[in-house]
Amino acid sequence: MQIVIDSANVESIRSLNEYFPIDGVTTNPSIIVKEKRDFLPLLREIRAVIGNEKDLFVQVIAEKAEDIVKEAHYICNEVTGSILIKVPVTTEGIKAIKLLKEEGIRTLATTVYTPMSALIAAKAGAEYVAPYVNRIDNLTGNGVEVVSNITRIFSEHNLPCKVLAASFKNVQQLQNVFLSGAHGITAPPELIKGMITHPSVEIDVNQFKEEWLNQFGNEGHTLLSTQ
Ligand code: G3P
Repeated sequence: MQIVIDSANVESIRSLNEYFPIDGVTTNPSIIVKEKRDFLPLLREIRAVIGNEKDLFVQVIAEKAEDIVKEAHYICNEVTGSILIKVPVTTEGIKAIKLLKEEGIRTLATTVYTPMSALIAAKAGAEYVAPYVNRIDNLTGNGVEVVSNITRIFSEHNLPCKVLAASFKNVQQLQNVFLSGAHGITAPPELIKGMITHPSVEIDVNQFKEEWLNQFGNEGHTLLSTQ
């Protein structure tokens, strides 16, 4: 099961990677331009923060399959560590996924809105598909159901492709895609932090502390100073 940060903000990634069990970072052209930084230095800084082992997903902007392959080579040559190339599920994108698979370059099929596009991408050799849960919901579809159907098809047909669900606006959507069998999620830093947010936690922690201090006084401010 994977939890991936959908952001290119270096400080958010640094902080989340330090405190949370994070498996990697996904970017896309919109996420990159938001940072108003040069492309390669930004990717290299993210890599330095997460280390070489964790996955860094980088999206192509080319449209023709052969150009997508060239962009994939460029990214793989310029950025170290574990890289996955994000390729939109257009006709040219599917061809590119097949070509990249033949070369051993790992891909994630992105902009997935239907189980059928996920199936084709998986059969073409994508290692991951990324269904866009919230964008599907916004189109009056059912994003969680699409994820559930994709995981069912992959499992029924033994397709060795993982579902990294993407595009979220709330923690309920995250919980529902995990329940529906997604192998992982990629979400903005605030939503990942939101996975452990509950007002009762602070209330409980304060109560524990207060009761402890009442018994042990100031010496009890840490367990290390109590007998
Ligand atoms: O990784 C894809 C994702 O960034 C799309 O999310 O929130 O722009 O719909 P969103």
